[in-house]
Amino acid sequence: MTDYHYILTERDERVGIVTLNRPKELNALSIAVIGEVANAMEEFDRDAEIGCIVITGSGEKAFAAGADIKEMSNKSPIDMLNAGFDDWDRIRRISKPIIAAVFGYVLGGGCELALNCDMIIAAENTRFGQPEIMLGIIPGAGGTQRLARTLGKYRTMEMVLLGAQVGAKEMAEHGLVNHIVPKGEQLSEAIKMAKKIAAQAPVAARLAKASVLAAFETSLQEGLAIERQNFFLLFASEDMREGMQAFIEKRQAQFKGK
Ligand code: COA
Repeated sequence: MTDYHYILTERDERVGIVTLNRPKELNALSIAVIGEVANAMEEFDRDAEIGCIVITGSGEKAFAAGADIKEMSNKSPIDMLNAGFDDWDRIRRISKPIIAAVFGYVLGGGCELALNCDMIIAAENTRFGQPEIMLGIIPGAGGTQRLARTLGKYRTMEMVLLGAQVGAKEMAEHGLVNHIVPKGEQLSEAIKMAKKIAAQAPVAARLAKASVLAAFETSLQEGLAIERQNFFLLFASEDMREGMQAFIEKRQAQFKGK
């Protein structure tokens, strides 16, 4: 693996783990941090030995307290345009499932990074928020759109217009958190879930993710067509034959990602 300055990467069996590693700055997401996250995730995405990715943060206080305010404070619009926001799109295009293991402050870009993931495991002390309005800006990495699609208009307006923080329990009630766990257990829980995903047929897992995400970007008719195409495509995979044969022979399937 590449050496990174602001993140840590490791692997646990077929799970690739990315850890934001600026605990003194509450894992603030500088441009360089997001670039490294995108690079590491792409590296795991290309690696046939990896079936699922987990992202978390180091330290006790925050998964990530947002984009790096000190870095942004003097930027012009053109600086921001040139700043590497494309890295957010690279994270969005990762084809393998990603689980966020979050705790403490999950604010601004930190919240948007979690929303970019496919599942969220949250410690009970997690506080989600989009406080950008208090800095005179708005979310710029998908917060208004992804929150609105999950929480609906009114809750999203409250978060975005007031900068109000919302606890893990309330987010779970609105379908934005998969599981709440005691503080300190979020990473092990996420890895446990990631290992189960990584044990599935890899191509099916990728096409399952792509199909679900299509629901957020297309009409129902287009989404159903994408699902059907992906469904048919999997009948070309060796893993489909193996999965069904293993069922018939009452044994564990041995998937190869082909
Ligand atoms: N960007 C840059 N630095 C940040 C940061 C951010 N988003 N969030 C925290 N930090 C830094 C602080 O400046 C401080 O650095 P210092 O020790 O050099 O002064 C350090 O991290 C610790 O933060 P601090 O504010 O002292 O911790 P706290 O426990 O008192 O407060 C928060 C925690 C999360 C409430 C507070 O840090 C905060 O509001 N952060 C900004 C959240 C935000 O607006 N995010 C959206 C950005 S677009």
